[in-house]
Amino acid sequence: MTGRRGFPAGFLWGAATSAYQIEGSPLADGAGASIWQRFTHTPGLTANDDTGDIACDHYHRWREDVRLMRELGLNAYRFSIAWGRILPDGTGAVNQKGLDFYRHLVDALLESGITPMATLYHWDLPAALDDRGGWLNRDIPGWFADYAAVAFKALDDRVKFWATLNEPWVVTDGGYLHGALAPGHRNQFEAPIATHNLMRAHGAGVQAYRAVGKNQIGIVVNLEPKYPATDSPDDIEATRRTDAYMNRQYLDPVFFGSYPPEMQKELFGQAWHPFPDSDLEEARQKIDFLGVNYYTRGVMKNSPAVTVEKASRVPQPNATRTETGWEVFEQGLTDTLVWIKERYGDIPLYITENGAAFYDPPVASNGRIDDPLRIDYIQRHLRAAHTAISRGVDLRGYFAWSLLDNLEWSLGFSKRFGIVHVNFSTLERTPKASARFYTEVIRSNGESLFE
Ligand code: BGC
Repeated sequence: MTGRRGFPAGFLWGAATSAYQIEGSPLADGAGASIWQRFTHTPGLTANDDTGDIACDHYHRWREDVRLMRELGLNAYRFSIAWGRILPDGTGAVNQKGLDFYRHLVDALLESGITPMATLYHWDLPAALDDRGGWLNRDIPGWFADYAAVAFKALDDRVKFWATLNEPWVVTDGGYLHGALAPGHRNQFEAPIATHNLMRAHGAGVQAYRAVGKNQIGIVVNLEPKYPATDSPDDIEATRRTDAYMNRQYLDPVFFGSYPPEMQKELFGQAWHPFPDSDLEEARQKIDFLGVNYYTRGVMKNSPAVTVEKASRVPQPNATRTETGWEVFEQGLTDTLVWIKERYGDIPLYITENGAAFYDPPVASNGRIDDPLRIDYIQRHLRAAHTAISRGVDLRGYFAWSLLDNLEWSLGFSKRFGIVHVNFSTLERTPKASARFYTEVIRSNGESLFE
């Protein structure tokens, strides 16, 4: 039941993180290097040459971090498992110490009444697998399913929600097409192969789960609703193309077992492949929930010179923009959630990431950090989520990105998304005003948003 203005009973109120962004000690206790270890250790690829060597030192401070979550009143926590901590070579021998780290973390969460949601792949591919072609190797679904099975066997008695992949679009677009993210390739002919193998790996992971799992499994995608900059037919078509590229490219195979027609016809041309139907059957497995990461929208205009998309964003002059340049547009969240229901049917949804990087003032002498823009962002998006619920969307949880300021990938530590401030010299954690605000929201199951 939804309260008058509150959220459904049992709603998950969480925060999210990912392994490489917070853990630090990426090679500790026998872990194998990941593509992010290599990427950050290649000079010039990240802001300030920042690396995840220490990050938030969560690998050692996880007890403190769980205590913090409890103090903030979270009832759920989304984290990711580093594949290379469990299987240092990506396949083969299991590293018990890596499994133990996550087992202890999950035990501590459960003791604190916090429901764990574990993501199996948040971008940190074992480097040993990259040496064998990584996401371009047709064997990777099998490697992924074997790794996933080890994680399920060790943790499914404690982890209620599993996600196969985090944001396959970013893995391909950032890692294989434009190269701003690991492994840093820029190759239009590789991108479709990476995408297709990601989709097959997702399906193989779900199948492996059905063999042993007792709880729930889904996938996490980043969605960005696209709106035309003008009502010219060219801009409307550009909008449709970018929607296919960013949104439908990943959801259509998961739900329909096919790729949008735009992929070959309008986006990749000869770089797209005639993928066999049997592969798409493999990708299309029944999932228990869909995780949606939502940050912003795209207002698009036709730009034939742009690689693949042949469209570009039009900045909105009066909009508030975050430090990463993203327009604050909460209506896009409502639109996205309703669109999923209309296009793909009634699947339980979780907002698995939502948040903003804004400039934060230093910690004041009274220990406070006021981040009014982040509070405003979260409030607007939670209200927008509530609107979607009142329009019949089966939304069951919200995870703020992020619990902690952390390594924002190639932007290093220069952008802070946390509701908890991290001093990267002392590693001290200080909840920002947005964390206090969120605590109130949770305590009232969302009613305080409307006061
Ligand atoms: C990713 C996070 C990232 C966040 C902000 C999402 O694309 O899943 O790892 O830090 O956005 O950029």
